[in-house]
Amino acid sequence: MADLQQEKTEEFNDRLLSLSLARVSEAAALATADHIGRGDEDAADTAAACAMQHVLGGMNIDGHIAIGEGDELDTDTLFVGQKLGTGEGPSVDIALMPLEGRTLAAKDMPNALSVVAIGPRDSMLRVPPIYMDKLAIGPGYPDGLLSLEMTPSERIAAVAGFRNCAPEELTVCVLDRPRHEALITEIRETGARVRLISDGDVSGVMACAEPARTGIDLYMGLGGAPEGVLAAAALKCLGGQMQGRLVVRNSDEAARARHAGISDTAVIWSLDEMIRDDVVFAATGITDSALVKGIRRDDVHISTETLLLRSKTGSVRRQNCRRFRRKS
Ligand code: FBP
Repeated sequence: MADLQQEKTEEFNDRLLSLSLARVSEAAALATADHIGRGDEDAADTAAACAMQHVLGGMNIDGHIAIGEGDELDTDTLFVGQKLGTGEGPSVDIALMPLEGRTLAAKDMPNALSVVAIGPRDSMLRVPPIYMDKLAIGPGYPDGLLSLEMTPSERIAAVAGFRNCAPEELTVCVLDRPRHEALITEIRETGARVRLISDGDVSGVMACAEPARTGIDLYMGLGGAPEGVLAAAALKCLGGQMQGRLVVRNSDEAARARHAGISDTAVIWSLDEMIRDDVVFAATGITDSALVKGIRRDDVHISTETLLLRSKTGSVRRQNCRRFRRKS
């Protein structure tokens, strides 16, 4: 009987975990508040990471970081492989970015988020901190409509064909980087629009899930691989399709991939291969984005908005929190 009880408490209870996860991203976002717009990315990131580590540390989980702030050699806070939680609850994988869009927060520009996802142990792909080529669309499309093997124009033609609209009606979100020059030119040549973002491709991928709200239909291009897995966790909850393929530029990056357990770097991963089980996901806005409001302050209070997602049901909750401002 006692064993049965023990087994039950150690199940992955996504409903309960989802609600407590709000406090994790919220704490990290709040910790950045004093640093928004002050030009110091490191200070904002360190504050967010310490706060997130503190709250995760108190949760009743046997947590293992699958996607974190870097390798053990790079950081001593929230590194990949780090164990977190009291060890009392279910054994889980954690993917996190206490501050996704460091520059955005430091410059007080849109789309900075604090994000965290939890799934059962070994449910998340381990990837090295190198680039990933990403392709994403929202819900409602037939499976396999798009592939990274298609050219950008073929992808746009497929989406326009399915929607029975002209490419001119579509907007593709792309990170504004010199490496994307040819991609941007090709997309524009189809007639589609390009929404350039200066940073924050987790937010960019998530935006595909709600085109009516964000005006974004597709996401394409190279960004961080860890951000790719986190974005896949969000899309698994919001609905949509995503593919990712590592981009290995030199032997050091190949070694990092091997260290993460990936020998074949040419593999194209689907969303369900990156996130292999049901997950819960929380994103708190640091600065405003189309999907979630950023931090608000007045003389007395500080307020946050958190998006809480569960893949099992596709539930989307918005949690608003107002609290007294800390006296500095
Ligand atoms: P940071 O918050 O670590 O600065 O990441 C921001 C980001 O824009 C990610 O969203 C994106 O995946 C990555 O940087 C792109 O990397 P790069 O700046 O090298 O193009």
